[in-house]
Amino acid sequence: MLFDFKEIPGKECYKLLVSTVTPRPIAWVVSQDVNGVLNAGAFSFFNAFSGDPPVVAIGVASHKPGRPKDTRVNIRETGQFVVNLVSEANAEQMNITAIEFEYGVDELEQAGLTPLPSVRVKPPRIAESPVAMECELMQIIDLGETGLVLGRVLAMHVHDEFVLDAANLYIDTPKLRLLGRMHGRGWYARTSDLFEMPRIPVKEWKMKTGVASESGKSGRD
Ligand SMILES: Cc1cc2nc3c(=O)[nH]c(=O)nc-3n(C[C@H](O)[C@H](O)[C@H](O)COP(=O)(O)O)c2cc1C
Repeated sequence: MLFDFKEIPGKECYKLLVSTVTPRPIAWVVSQDVNGVLNAGAFSFFNAFSGDPPVVAIGVASHKPGRPKDTRVNIRETGQFVVNLVSEANAEQMNITAIEFEYGVDELEQAGLTPLPSVRVKPPRIAESPVAMECELMQIIDLGETGLVLGRVLAMHVHDEFVLDAANLYIDTPKLRLLGRMHGRGWYARTSDLFEMPRIPVKEWKMKTGVASESGKSGRD
């Protein structure tokens, strides 16, 4: 079935995107206002977009037209935030921080979470989260009622138990048991159903399919 986005109101386009682009990782963002009041919120319009420089992006919408969510206001005003990742063990507390509290309510306190001091930015990280990224604002791209926040990751904290080899920066990803957001408002996916599929070297593919390699061209993975 064709859904022509030219014919569909914005709210409905949203429904099609969030019920198909799944699972999405969740950024559990801690920020502070200019007076240091803490704020936390969950955002699944989120991913990492570059390794060098290390860049993450988050789509932060508005509570109502013209009133951006507190996270976006804080990041715009202070230029700093922490992205914490959400594990299965964090699920319920993450859900509490996503309650639409009025401005100035400390969601970390509401959810019984422990703020820990960051090293490179002012907003704290969440002790209970297995991975936290201290970020500095690079740019906010205006998408209408959503602002796409691009952040440079300045430092990452990983709980010791998930670090396999610190010298080689190997992390035990399956053990993190991170959550993904699925369709609708309340569906999530666990990241425990894994399978492995090695990349295929071009030479191996050509041998298998009988495709003759073009002379003078070297294969690249
Ligand atoms: C799992 C999850 C993912 C969410 N993803 C987003 C998102 O990508 N963008 C957004 O604007 N709101 C998202 N929300 C809603 C915000 O978390 C919610 O509006 C929150 O109250 C915003 O907090 P703030 O006003 O303190 O920034 C999500 C909520 C949940 C539970």
